[in-house]
Amino acid sequence: RLEAKVDSVVALMTLEEKIGQMVQYSASWDVTGPPTAGNEGRLDNLKKGLVGSMLNVTGVKSTKEAQRLNMENSRLKIPLLFGYDVIHGYKTMFPVPLGESASWDLDLMQQTAHVAAKESAASGIGWTFAPMIDVSRDARWGRIMEGAGEDPFLVSKIGVARIKGFQGEDLTATTAIAACAKHFAGYGFAEAGRDYNTVNIGMNELHNTILPPFKEAAKAGVLTFMNSFNEIDGVPSTGNPYLQRELLKNEWQYNGFIVSDWGSISEMIAHGVAENHKEAAYIALTAGSDMDMEGNAYETSLAELLAEGRIQEAMIDDAVKRIIRVKFQLGLFDDPYKYCDEKAEKKELYSKENQQVALEAGKKSIVLLKNEKGVLPIASTVKHIAVIGPLADDKDSPLGNWRAQAEANSAVSVLEGIKKYAPKGVKVTYAEGAKLTTGERSFLKHVTFNNDDTSGFEKAIKTAKEADLVILVVGEDAFQSGEGRSQTDIGFAGVQDELIEAVYKANKNVVIVLMNGRPMDISWSADHIPAIVESWLLGSQHGNAVAEVLFGKYNPSGKLPVSFPRNVGQEPLYYNQKSTGRPGEIPDVTYSHYVDSRRDALYPFGFGLSYTSFAYKNLSLSASSFSGDGNLEVSVTVTNAGKVAGEEVVQLYIRDLFASTTRPIKELKGFEKIHLNPGESKTVSFTIDKALISFYTRNKKWEAEPGAFKLFVGGNSVDLLETMFEYKM
Ligand code: IFM
Repeated sequence: RLEAKVDSVVALMTLEEKIGQMVQYSASWDVTGPPTAGNEGRLDNLKKGLVGSMLNVTGVKSTKEAQRLNMENSRLKIPLLFGYDVIHGYKTMFPVPLGESASWDLDLMQQTAHVAAKESAASGIGWTFAPMIDVSRDARWGRIMEGAGEDPFLVSKIGVARIKGFQGEDLTATTAIAACAKHFAGYGFAEAGRDYNTVNIGMNELHNTILPPFKEAAKAGVLTFMNSFNEIDGVPSTGNPYLQRELLKNEWQYNGFIVSDWGSISEMIAHGVAENHKEAAYIALTAGSDMDMEGNAYETSLAELLAEGRIQEAMIDDAVKRIIRVKFQLGLFDDPYKYCDEKAEKKELYSKENQQVALEAGKKSIVLLKNEKGVLPIASTVKHIAVIGPLADDKDSPLGNWRAQAEANSAVSVLEGIKKYAPKGVKVTYAEGAKLTTGERSFLKHVTFNNDDTSGFEKAIKTAKEADLVILVVGEDAFQSGEGRSQTDIGFAGVQDELIEAVYKANKNVVIVLMNGRPMDISWSADHIPAIVESWLLGSQHGNAVAEVLFGKYNPSGKLPVSFPRNVGQEPLYYNQKSTGRPGEIPDVTYSHYVDSRRDALYPFGFGLSYTSFAYKNLSLSASSFSGDGNLEVSVTVTNAGKVAGEEVVQLYIRDLFASTTRPIKELKGFEKIHLNPGESKTVSFTIDKALISFYTRNKKWEAEPGAFKLFVGGNSVDLLETMFEYKM
């Protein structure tokens, strides 16, 4: 029935109307008023039904008016779809995606995506450009903050959870919005971590590392895909027929639509593969890009290309059907105003319940990296806490980049959280120490660092000296990560290094609370400072979440979704590397290593401490081998060996010892987050089957190859129990 409906609409459309559906405009004027100079034509097109979607029109008042202009004036009254970057919340901010991924809590991530969907849907938005499921392994790349880290298995699971959260169970519900799997593909592998840069990867890396999350997203029913700015091996993704037509649409049988990234169709001119908009439109359409986001290529060139016989109407029809199908699936043909309810908008945005979810997500995303001599949780003997640092009372940075409609400075700062949670009688004093950045901060502005003003150090040192314990809040400004925010230096910017050392000299009892959107080089602090809490950029409830961890109200349970390097020179750094032919057995220098640094991570993937400790024992297999479509069970007993209740992420890794192509030295293949009371034990089981050990082989197919595998289970990617099994055909 759905297909019949789609066909019946497309059958009524003129060529101009069809091309219009493939065009997406940004809100280049306030649609509730007259068009600003240069936008008259766009308003006209909106009224004629020659626009398929708009992005960045937000709020019921505006989306309702834009929809009205379209519905009341256009011939066919095909509803508009309003898209927006709802990346980690709409008004209520949740942790930045990389941070939230550290929770390894899929239900939680589904829930925060659902709350973000509810808020955006209540505010006129029917489509988010999320989740970003680019496997990202280079901390220099600013957009590492928007993804779920370095591992394809983890990124796949988190991607699906977020898609389910955004889209809900019933797409026609007023709270369900379309999700978008982006960026297809390879965007996270930009050379040298420089955003938009060239990507050079082969089919092995593409299929085994980059594509799995996208395949899972398609299987999970994500309604849309976005292609990517980068090229792979000389072909811009927007113009890549192998990725879009052959793989996604034909092999994976995907029937949603692909939107270009912002202007990425016309950017093929700058890439040097299209001479003008018309050629760019030709390359993009034949490659399978369905909607042109602000590219000005499809609306100006498709009719001409068709008249010249270079493209066929069937190609346009295919793209339009995909777009119309999604609009039907969302129930927009039944109610074009389904997202336009002022009452819901008032009630849903920034509600108390949503803040509670943000607090929960914040706590669970925190990773305890170091805790010597049990500095944390803060002991009852501590009577005076000094809160110091440029980010300590920052109410804006926790909101992160891609902050949608968050109100500037609306987050709870760490200082505020500590003051609120500090037990009665505990004195809290504060010194900023130094400013991290100067000047205006926003999505499109460059960040300017304070590299010389240390005038606040004196007060910081005095404050530190007077206290029993120092909480030093340092790291990155909200706009150091995100799109266009690549860095060659991933250490502490500005005068923070000097501040950390000065404060540590004044009082050795220091806890660093890190705020950041990427793995940082924190080697000096890791060597000297007794406790380090990775708090990312946790969103609206940042300070409260941090305080709950510092005072032991919540026992930290986060685990790193990315490796933390010892220095920037190790990047890209990831645990699931290949062995190389010279992994290190050679006694002389001719093996794969650095002369001036260790090659392993400072804090590895999957790592995170707790206020308790967990003991792993009895790793056992139901059989030493399995064959064909059979399987085997792995089980392990985990015991809370400490004095407080806590959560542990039990992780399963495998290594395919010999295969037709080189395989990673370890690959995550399962995880489960469990809660254990002191002394309690649980047995956790995983199933190993053919699908789990399959990979893109030398035959250019997903297959399982017979042979021996190592199997590892533990609480991070390094400290593991291990055994072996065999797969027989
Ligand atoms: O969704 C984003 C994309 O991730 C980067 N370029 C702009 C798009 C729309 O804002």
